[in-house]
Amino acid sequence: MREGPNKFPQSAFWWFILWLVFLFFNCSHCHSISGSGSSFRCIHKLNITGFNSSSSESLLHSVPESKAESVQVRGVVCSVMTNNNCSWLPLLEEFTFAAHSAPFNNCHASTIVEVNKDHFLVAYFGGTVEGAPDVKIWTQTYKDGIWLPPVIADEQTNVSMWNPALFKLPSNELLLFYKIGQEVQKWSGFMKRSYDGGITWQEREQLPPGILGPIKNKPILLQNGDLLCGSSVESWNSWGAWMEVTPDAGKSWRKYGPIYVENNPLGVIQPVPFITEKGTFRVLLRSFTNLGRVYMSESEDGHSWNFAKPTELPNPNSGIDGVKLKDGRLLLAYNTDSRGVLKVAVSADDGDSWQEVTTLENTPGMEFSYPAVIQASNDLVHITYTYNRTQIKHVVLNPN
Ligand SMILES: *[C@@H]1O[C@H](CO)[C@@H](O)[C@H](O)[C@H]1NC(C)=O
Ligand SMILES: *[C@@H]1O[C@H](CO)[C@@H](O)[C@H](O)[C@H]1NC(C)=O
Ligand SMILES: *[C@@H]1O[C@H](CO)[C@@H](O)[C@H](O)[C@H]1NC(C)=O
Ligand SMILES: *[C@@H]1O[C@H](CO)[C@@H](O)[C@H](O)[C@H]1NC(C)=O
Ligand SMILES: *[C@@H]1O[C@H](CO)[C@@H](O)[C@H](O)[C@H]1NC(C)=O
Repeated sequence: MREGPNKFPQSAFWWFILWLVFLFFNCSHCHSISGSGSSFRCIHKLNITGFNSSSSESLLHSVPESKAESVQVRGVVCSVMTNNNCSWLPLLEEFTFAAHSAPFNNCHASTIVEVNKDHFLVAYFGGTVEGAPDVKIWTQTYKDGIWLPPVIADEQTNVSMWNPALFKLPSNELLLFYKIGQEVQKWSGFMKRSYDGGITWQEREQLPPGILGPIKNKPILLQNGDLLCGSSVESWNSWGAWMEVTPDAGKSWRKYGPIYVENNPLGVIQPVPFITEKGTFRVLLRSFTNLGRVYMSESEDGHSWNFAKPTELPNPNSGIDGVKLKDGRLLLAYNTDSRGVLKVAVSADDGDSWQEVTTLENTPGMEFSYPAVIQASNDLVHITYTYNRTQIKHVVLNPN
């Protein structure tokens, strides 16, 4: 049966070659992240990123869609025909600005929000070094596959700015929360609003005394309009988290907590809030050095919180962020033994158990920290994080 009477196998072969040529041509001309579900294939390769495009680690990845197609991503040949499971390899990896191109040496603590389809805004703090008096809040717009240069969102002469957190209300109003103060123990909470997708910002508003706003990670909006902001306090021998709630987008506030580790005052900060399948509230938390795990606390009503308990995920006293995916799974980006390793794990049971799905970075001695995670309207997961304190890296994953 090697040579059948009809010529179909041979013509199928040539159609296959033609199709490969078409795929190549098609892929080398893509200019943005587009498509939906599992059909994301091509991502525009940016030139502003500072990556060495001739090196083996390319920015341009495409996910194999059919049996015949295979691509090489991070040295792994991905194909449905091989046993390699490449479903979580990044679709896109890039820097938001090229190395040494920004008007600051040092940056950290990014946050990302989807303004519109294919239009994102990030914010982070940048200056001489974390805590220096010249540290300002910067934003960058990502539109149609291009990152615009950093612009100042707020600054305060001789006083440092810290940890921004962006959120978009259903009205399209953008909220930018951040802290101002000479040091962490002395910072106060502030916010700005934008009605044009982050191009211009209204006057700075100060949050009430004792309210710091979302301390690192994005808040979540409930159906009743309450915005749940995971906050925390780091003072002498005392680390604990709070749920700060505003029913009117930052005008009035209540706070609930403390969320902390029983018999351990130096415990947990920087909550990642989410709502469970059964309708309770949970937070995942960064923990102090000796604790070594991501912690979790639960609340029936969002007001009274259980003691935080360790999860199975490691934490080297480093910021985490996650998102409740539309399909109900929970996704978390986190460091493992040090800030030199950044991984992504997924939980199908609201944080009770986890499956590691991908390693974004693994270079001991470097720092890949403070991830910010969102799921965009087209279901893709966007993660930004600190790249060795000098750049912000942007990675896109397909969770489907
Ligand atoms: C891409 O970047 C390189 C190095 O910075 C530069 O020489 C080149 O002109 C850029 N190409 C385009 C198309 O902008
Ligand atoms: C880019 O990478 C190639 C291969 O690794 C290397 O030969 C070249 O010097 C690098 N170029 C720059 C500008 O780093
Ligand atoms: C790939 O991995 C994901 C999660 O890790 C799993 O759900 C899926 O079934 C795997 N696919 C294959 C083809 O092994
Ligand atoms: C900022 O600090 C510099 C140097 O310490 C000082 O000369 C200047 O007066 C300060 N400016 C303000 C507005 O505090
Ligand atoms: C990363 O940052 C550390 C600390 O500043 C520095 O020593 C190291 O050279 C950096 N690594 C790279 C590859 O930039």
